[in-house]
Amino acid sequence: MKAILVDEQSPDRTLRWAEAPDPVAGPGEVLVEVCATALNRADLLQRAGNYPPPPGAPPYLGLEMAGVVAGLGEGVKDWQVGERVCALLAGGGYAEKVAVPAPLLVRLPVGWDFVKAAAFPEVFYTAFVNLFMEAQLQPGERVLIHGGASGVGTAAIQMARAEGCQVAATAGTPAKCTRCLELGADLAIDYREGDFAQIVQQRLGGVDVILDISGGAYLERNLKALAPKGRLVLIALLGGPAASIDLGLVLRKRLRIIGSLLRSRSLEEKTQVVEGFAARFWPLMQAGHLAPVVETVLPIQQAAEAHQILAENRNIGKVVLTVRESKT
Ligand SMILES: NC(=O)c1ccc[n+]([C@@H]2O[C@H](COP(=O)([O-])OP(=O)(O)OC[C@H]3O[C@@H](n4cnc5c(N)ncnc54)[C@H](OP(=O)(O)O)[C@@H]3O)[C@@H](O)[C@H]2O)c1
Repeated sequence: MKAILVDEQSPDRTLRWAEAPDPVAGPGEVLVEVCATALNRADLLQRAGNYPPPPGAPPYLGLEMAGVVAGLGEGVKDWQVGERVCALLAGGGYAEKVAVPAPLLVRLPVGWDFVKAAAFPEVFYTAFVNLFMEAQLQPGERVLIHGGASGVGTAAIQMARAEGCQVAATAGTPAKCTRCLELGADLAIDYREGDFAQIVQQRLGGVDVILDISGGAYLERNLKALAPKGRLVLIALLGGPAASIDLGLVLRKRLRIIGSLLRSRSLEEKTQVVEGFAARFWPLMQAGHLAPVVETVLPIQQAAEAHQILAENRNIGKVVLTVRESKT
């Protein structure tokens, strides 16, 4: 098969679409011919050498894909060759084939194309696990979603809104703020124009949950923005790993700070995420009330160009790479 390989000797870590060993479906795994994959911010980190795949994961980039079942490993009973599927991956989506643990596969609903399906798993599962499993966001609560126009942010806004929450989002341009409002946010804050903590206190009286991608740079303001018994979930550290904070605020408001990664979770934990999402949100996805936001679709050979879109923060939602045409 072919896969995107990272040239670790070149200064810009050049991406090449080149021959690579075929994966083999082990016991409990399904071999899938990939039709589309999608970018995630983590791909940029992995390419730079700063986010190695967890043990046992394919070495190639790519945390999600959609495609067609091409083979079954030992003991797999519930899947058939030719079925259209998508899945969360620990790696290996930027390739023509990938072996996927069977419990992580999802059948594509009628009418879904591979581009839409490839854009769904990572961001919807991330938003789900962090808002609803980690932070226990409840209907009617107020939530602040940083990076509201990111892939994760666009999923999180829709899901929180669908659960009847009051949703505030931050983003870095007026166009991104407008898109956050169109997706269901009640309040969109251009963080370059004002202090988000002051604005959410004035407009909402604080928030119960914050989904944060900044870390150090936002920590103090996040603690100010939280209401008593608020929960802060850190899913990335784009604003740096270090901060000095007033722990008195954490104590007095009885706050909780939660760190969370999806990729390194065990198969058992990921299966709980997939099943929990299916039970609570899959009917809304099938009915079209929730949908991935797709910014751009490019052929996989243009993966480097696609990475540049994320690196320059130009995307609203997902950038998808097409890998092959499917006859099904
Ligand atoms: N913990 C996990 O399991 C997990 C899983 C998935 C994703 N993530 C993380 O969640 C974040 C979103 O992922 P994604 O793939 O959806 O990203 P994405 O589509 O690439 O969007 C990221 C956005 O973050 C904003 N941003 C960039 N630098 C920033 C900074 N220093 N401070 C605040 N905002 C900044 C930019 O939007 P603006 O123009 O609005 O600033 C950018 O477009 C990433 O950092 C990713 O690594 C974590």
